[in-house]
Parts: sequence; C-alpha cells; structure tokens
Amino acid sequence: MALPDPATTPAAATHAALPLDAQGILELAARSMFQLFSSVSQGMFLVDHSGRIVWVNEGYRRFLPDLGVGSVEQFLGRMVEEVIPNTQMRSVLDTGKPVLIDLLTNQAGTFVVSRIPLRDEAQQVIGAIGIVLFDHPETTLQPLISKFALLQRDLDDARRELAVQRGRQISGAGSGVRRAKYTFASFVGSSPAAAEVKRQARRAAQSSSPVLLLGETGTGKELLAHAIHATSARSGGPFVSVNIAAVPDTLLEAEFFGVAPGAYTGADRKGRDGKFKLADGGTLFLDEIGDMPPSLQAKLLRALQEGEIEPLGSNQLVPFDVRVVAATSRDLTALVREGKFREDLFYRLHVLPLRVPPLRERRSDIPALVEVLGEDLALRNGSAPPELLPDALALLMAQPWRGNIRELRNVLEQAAMRSDSDTIDAAQLTRILRETGVEPAAPEPDAPALQPGAQAQGDLLRPLAQQVAELERRAIAAALAAHGGNKQATARQLGISRATLYARMENPA
Ligand SMILES: Nc1ncnc2c1ncn2[C@@H]1O[C@H](COP(=O)(O)OP(=O)(O)OP(=O)(O)O)[C@@H](O)[C@H]1O
Ligand SMILES: [Mg+2]
Repeated sequence: MALPDPATTPAAATHAALPLDAQGILELAARSMFQLFSSVSQGMFLVDHSGRIVWVNEGYRRFLPDLGVGSVEQFLGRMVEEVIPNTQMRSVLDTGKPVLIDLLTNQAGTFVVSRIPLRDEAQQVIGAIGIVLFDHPETTLQPLISKFALLQRDLDDARRELAVQRGRQISGAGSGVRRAKYTFASFVGSSPAAAEVKRQARRAAQSSSPVLLLGETGTGKELLAHAIHATSARSGGPFVSVNIAAVPDTLLEAEFFGVAPGAYTGADRKGRDGKFKLADGGTLFLDEIGDMPPSLQAKLLRALQEGEIEPLGSNQLVPFDVRVVAATSRDLTALVREGKFREDLFYRLHVLPLRVPPLRERRSDIPALVEVLGEDLALRNGSAPPELLPDALALLMAQPWRGNIRELRNVLEQAAMRSDSDTIDAAQLTRILRETGVEPAAPEPDAPALQPGAQAQGDLLRPLAQQVAELERRAIAAALAAHGGNKQATARQLGISRATLYARMENPA
C-alpha cells in the first residue's frame, strides 16, 4: 500500500490501517513501543532467562568502552552482572516485576534506567529488557533533582539542629580541631554593599548547602569563608582549606582524597588523609576553584554527588560529611562558556552564590578599614598605628584599589614603615602609592616636594632589599590587574611558581 498523504488524508483513513483484531493491535502497539524506546532511549539490551545478554541496540554500543568491553561480540553472550556492574536485571528475572524507573551508577556514569521482564504465552519470564532512559541525569533531570535537593536541604537542616542540641549537651568537646580564624565581626564595613554581603553570608551560614564566593582578589573571600564556618552549626568541627592554585596539578588528587596505605613505596607508604577526610564534620574551603584541572573537576563532582571519596590506590569508597565553601576571583561563567570549567560542577557549587563587592564599590568603608587595618599592623609590628590626615584619607578613598583590601593593607603598611613623622599627609601618601605600584587617581594632591628626577634619585639611595621588594609588589599588582586576578596566569607571566606568588601576596617581602 502506498503511504497516505498526511495533508489530504482525513484522520479516519489512518485508523483504517490498524489491524481489526485485538491481538493484532496489541502486537502492533508492542512493536511500535519497542521501536520507539529503542530509538528515543540512550540504549537498550535484552537478556534471556538465565541473564545472558542476547541483543543490544545501536545506541547502547557507546557505553561499552566505559564498561570496559571492547566490542559487541564480547558483550553478547556474557552474564549481565559480569559486564554491567550494579545492575538489578537479575532481580527482575527472579521476581518477574518490572522496575519502571531507577538510578544505576557504575564506572560508566549514572543513568536513569528501566527494566522490564519479557513473558511467554504461559506468563513465564523468559528474559528482560534493559533500557537506559537518560545518561547525565544531573542535567536531564534537573527539575527532579532540584526537588530532591530541597528535600536534602531540609534533612540537612534537621541534622544541623540535632547537632546543635547535641553540641549543647557535650559543650567543651572538640578541642584540638582547627577553628576558623575570623568571624563576621572581622569583616569590617557598614556600607550598603558590605552589609548586604554580610547578610547573605550569615544566611548561608545557616544552611549546609555549598557556598560559592565570587569576587576580585583581596576582597575578603577567605575571611568570609572562615566567618561562615564559625557561625555555622559546624563551627565545632574543623575548618580545612585547600588552595587549588597553589598545589601542583599532579598532587591535587592526593591532596583532596588522600592516599591509601601501600599505594606508593617510600615516604607515603603509610598512607595519608586527604582534605575531605580532615574536614569531616566541618567545612572544606576550596580556594581558587576556577584553577581546578578538568580531570579533578570530574572527580570532585562525583565526590560531591555521591558523598563518598576514593583515596588514591584504594578501591574502597569512604563516606564523608563536609560542607563545601568554594571561592574564586576568576569569571566562572566565562570559564564554563569556554569549556574550561564543567557546567555540572558549576551548578553543584552555585547553590548559594555570594558576590563579594570590590572595595571601590564601598569606598565609604575605607576610613573604618584604615583604622582597623592600621591597628592590626601596629599590633603586629609593635609600632604606633599610622595616622592619616584628612587629605591623605581622601586620596585613599579615590583610588581604584584593584588589589582591594589586601592592597589597602599593603599601602598602609608601607606608609607606617616609610613615614618619619607621626602623621601622613596626601603628599607622602602619593609617593607611597607610586612606590607600591598604584598611579594615584584624583583628587590629585599637591605636587610632591621633590622633582620626579630627584625623587627617583633619592629612591635609588635606599637599602636594596627594600627597593627589590617594592619592585616585586608593583610587578605583582600590575600582572594581577592585567590578568583579571588569574593567579595562574600572573605567576606564569612573572616566571615564578604559584606558591611563590601566594607567599609574596600574603607576606610582601
Ligand atoms: N571586610 C574586611 N575587613 C577587614 N579586613 C579584611 C576585609 N576583607 C578582607 N580583609 C583582609 O584583606 C586581606 C585579603 O582578604 P582575603 O584573603 O580574604 O581575600 P580573598 O578575596 O580571599 O583574595 P584572593 O582572591 O586574592 O585570595 C586579608 O588580610 C583580610 O584579612
Ligand atoms: Mg583567597
């Protein structure tokens, strides 16, 4: 029969093509459904009553490499559990009950699957169909997963409440763990932008979902991570941080997940705990998450999804109970767009995103910061805090502060060291700003007392170490600004290791 033209044939005409007997209709429906599932699903296979694989469709073939099977020939004829770890096909054969929807996880990934028994005329189970409905359920099943995440959050909240109550009963316990260095009180600032980020961070502290701190270099992301931990129900537990950019890529996996005893010969023979293990019951701060190499992104995602880690050289999964706070000064969405950061990991971490404002968006906090940072510096150096005259303060408030609070702190430290009087005026500060790598922005104060040439000459007649340190600081600030805070690129450009860059940033020589 020629195919009817859908444009001219009335609907009734297509019905005429259906078989008239019930059996015929059922057979046709079964065939159509089989073909439909076979084409729209990600893959399908059949086992016989003994659990032996007897057929596999085109779609399923792409899972074979991840299952460690070289070819269809090697797949056919094998017992299903031999080639598909964690499969429940056997129980479908045994019970004759279908499993319409289930999650299957093995080395090939996590899949949404269906398992349907096949029966003969006498209703005996003679085989079963396995269908992979979706792979990558984290993206295809987003609505379901969001709902699940909500339930999970409620559960976490209930657990937290319990932990608080238990904590009250055994107060005083938990000594010896690393505690957070800062609380919200350490985050100086009462400008609207500062108040808002503190409000959001306090809210984040009440939840146990992952937090993602986004903001330029030196804005206080690490400080906030400490404060969130200190205010959370996990404050009795450890606060453990990993600076991903500062650890060589080859060592990161061991750093995260640990090493099983005997995995290596030599020094590490005894095995070593990873940061996930060390942070158990507390908070794990993943600093510079944007610098994470792709291979580890996959492993981190799996760990966060499963709540389990696999130490290097071990084949055992170890559960962990860790709240993750991640931070980066890089543009994560751009990294996702460029394919450098996994989208699924991004969403996993992006549950509570917190934008930490740059200092130039909260200039009104600068006087308070100058006071607090100045006092802190004075305490450390056993000196008097630098006293800034109003014109100097006005000058500070006008700067772009690309290095944010860390840069402000450096400038204040230089000011305290360099100034030969108790007070610092705008002219002195202009010189200091220039020396630390900042070309002062308006309001331009009075011209410096010395001519530029003479000033440069005077500058050269100072201890060499001081001059070298100054040049380093300037080079680092310029390279950081040029690379948008990307420390990996900054270190590469300056020809120093990331570890050295960090050491210089934290502790300017
Ligand atoms: N609001 C604040 N009040 C007081 N000090 C602050 C504040 N924010 C940051 N600081 C100080 O500024 C310095 C830089 O802060 P922090 O290390 O938290 O920045 P960061 O955002 O993690 O920077 P990076 O991206 O470069 O790692 C620290 O010495 C910190 O104590
Ligand atoms: Mg930091």
